[in-house]
Amino acid sequence: KKIIHFDSINSTNIKGKALADNGEEEGVVVIAEEQTGGKGRLGRNWVSPKGKGIWMSIILRPNIDPMDATKITQIAAASVYTGLEEIGIESHIKWPNDIVLNGKKICGILTEMSGEMIKINYLVVGIGINANIDYNDFPKEVREKATSIKEELGKEVSRKQIIGNILNNFEKLYNEFLEKGNIESSIKICRDRSILIGKKIKIISKGKEIERLAVDITDTGELIVKDNLGEITKIISGEVSVR
Ligand code: BTN
Repeated sequence: KKIIHFDSINSTNIKGKALADNGEEEGVVVIAEEQTGGKGRLGRNWVSPKGKGIWMSIILRPNIDPMDATKITQIAAASVYTGLEEIGIESHIKWPNDIVLNGKKICGILTEMSGEMIKINYLVVGIGINANIDYNDFPKEVREKATSIKEELGKEVSRKQIIGNILNNFEKLYNEFLEKGNIESSIKICRDRSILIGKKIKIISKGKEIERLAVDITDTGELIVKDNLGEITKIISGEVSVR
C-alpha cells in the first residue's frame, strides 16, 4: 500500500483530489496529522487537531456507474466499524456515513467524485475519526453530538492499529464489490450495526424536515423508511437524525 503522510495539510480530501488529478493511482492513501481546513459534509468544517485523530483519504478509480458512488461510502462505514470492533470497540453505524459510539458521532465519511454522467474519473473517500480528541477540542456547538473514542473509553487508542485495520477491511470489502458487483457483505454490517433501524427518524431534505420510521437498509444501500400511513419509500442518501 502506498501511504502519503503529511504533518499538516489543509484537507486530505483536497490533497487526494489534487494527486488524483495528477494521475495518482487507485489505492493511494493520504494521511495527515493535522488538517487546517478539514471538510465535513454540507460545507461544514471538520475539527482536525494535530496528532489526535485519523484524517485520511483513499483514492479510488473504480469502473462503476457514478450512481453507485454512494456504495463506496457504505463500504467505508463497514470497514471503520469492523476496524474498531477488531480492537474491542463496539460502535454503531448511522446510515449513510457516520459512526457513533454511545450515541455520539466519532467518525464521518466524505466521498467526493470527479467524473461525468457515465464514467467516474476518480473517487476520494475521506475518513475522519475522532480517536484521541479531547472534549475541549470540539467547538461548543458540536459537543452535544460529537465525541472521541478516548473520551468514551477513558483511554487513548492506537491510531496506527486502527488505520491498519480499516485499510485491510476496506481492501477486502472493496475488492469484493469489484469482483461480485454487489456490496452485500458491507450492507450486512451496516444493517446489523445500524443505529437507525427500528427508530423514528428525522430526514432533512431540501430544507424540509420529515419524520419516518427507519425499517431496513436494502442490499444496494438505500434506507427503507415508512410514514405513519404505512407507505414505504427508499432514500438514496441524506441527512438523518434519530428523533
Ligand atoms: C462528515 O461527517 O461531515 C464528514 C467528515 C469527513 C472528515 C474527513 S477527515 C479526512 C477527510 N479530509 C477532509 O477534509 N474531510 C475528510
